[in-house]
Amino acid sequence: MKTSIALIGFMGTGKTGVGKALAEKLGKEFFELDPLIEKKAGKTIPAIFKEDGEITFREFEIEAIKEVSKERNAVIACGGGVVLNKINIDRLKEEAVIVCLTASPQVILRRTSRDAEERPLLAIANPALAIKELLRFRRPFYERAADTTVNTSRLDIDSVVTQIIAKIKEYEGLS
Ligand code: S3P
Repeated sequence: MKTSIALIGFMGTGKTGVGKALAEKLGKEFFELDPLIEKKAGKTIPAIFKEDGEITFREFEIEAIKEVSKERNAVIACGGGVVLNKINIDRLKEEAVIVCLTASPQVILRRTSRDAEERPLLAIANPALAIKELLRFRRPFYERAADTTVNTSRLDIDSVVTQIIAKIKEYEGLS
């Protein structure tokens, strides 16, 4: 029986806020990938992208997933790009049910523009276009990785948490 939950999904779909609330509700420990990567690298995510490039960031990400995927009874909020390397999903699936959070491009733009400079992939002249193109490219990766999916566009955090719990029960009943 899997005891952990990994939240995947595009930037701005609510992984961090929902993850914290879900962990609290279920009495599980909360882990978030990006701060773990920043600790490993000794610098912020934008600094890693700027000084070392995305490939190096992805290598840190693979290392962080390797460690955190061993945790039992955890809620893990992943970065939006973990699905790009299949090894990450294979490792997460050993202990965790994979829940994908989705949201419309408009909602993603609104949510991510609040802290735009924290996300190097969207800190550009036309973030709306970047969101559209990245979503088009990544959608099949999210769909393939997910055990179950919750659309967060119109839901507050508590409602997303309730839906996740219901969908995991449904998923466990099926598996
Ligand atoms: C990324 C998402 C970010 C962060 C990095 C790259 C991505 O995490 O890991 O900026 O490739 O989608 P959030 O999804 O938590 O914003």
